[in-house]
Amino acid sequence: TDHYAVVGHPIGHSQSPRIHGLFAEQTGEAIQYVAIEAPLDDFAGTVRDFFDRGGRGLNVTVPFKEAAWRLADEHTDRAEAAGAVNTLYRNERGRLVGDNTDGEGLVRDLTCNEDTEISGQRVLILGAGGAVRGVLLPLLQAGPAEIMIANRTAEKATGLAHQFSDLGPVSGGGYDTLHEEFDLIINGTSASLAGDLPPVSPDVLTETTVTYDMMYGPDRTAFSRWALDHGVKRTMDGLGMLVEQAAESFRIWRGVRPDTAPVIAALRNHR
Ligand code: ATR
Repeated sequence: TDHYAVVGHPIGHSQSPRIHGLFAEQTGEAIQYVAIEAPLDDFAGTVRDFFDRGGRGLNVTVPFKEAAWRLADEHTDRAEAAGAVNTLYRNERGRLVGDNTDGEGLVRDLTCNEDTEISGQRVLILGAGGAVRGVLLPLLQAGPAEIMIANRTAEKATGLAHQFSDLGPVSGGGYDTLHEEFDLIINGTSASLAGDLPPVSPDVLTETTVTYDMMYGPDRTAFSRWALDHGVKRTMDGLGMLVEQAAESFRIWRGVRPDTAPVIAALRNHR
């Protein structure tokens, strides 16, 4: 049996052990996957310990994704662009490789599970923190007509857009600069955590706009409720992204891609 884990702080509510447990059952891979709470001041020690004891791979979650990026000896392109790492493993030469599967998870959830086009679409992203930076490269690679990043602190949005501007049509600004309609709106702010809404005008919505909240919870998020209240017909939350990023990590570690649909359904049914 090969050992894997997710590291965070706190970690008690993580769904990752359950998700990877279901993947293992489904694929017949002999793995064990647990949750580890690292002390806030010794993430590096926790990671070193895990691999020294023969652990094969780690997922990394809040608040350690940037620390994991710093700790990794090598980064994949998407982890490099994200400035954050959610998947760690040692390669044949014993080097610690950092990858980031969050953006791939988001793109796959939208395009494969939800049948939502990104290619050619006008995309609005709300927020300019780590969660948004983490997904920008795969989103741009999916070929949108444009990506507009809006943030409360406008300079963070313009700065982020500037960093990615060589990679595709991306711009940034404050919420007050939004004067057009969008096909797809992704909420990457942490406002939902507090039941808050980003201050975006409903003028950005059309009849056919679809919205995606990267957060999820037992109840509809405040952002999804806002969208529905303004006539949006399709709202999605981040549960599918959570399962898809896990599936991509599983594929990297095991070389097998699990079927995510039954796992998403299982999580939706009891949460
Ligand atoms: P994360 O890693 O989850 O992205 P973060 O880097 O702290 O966390 O970023 C949080 C994001 O949510 C930021 O874009 C933040 O806006 P500011 O940069 O202006 O702070 C946004 N955010 C948090 N609470 C918000 C609220 N109540 N309304 C609007 N935006 C909010």
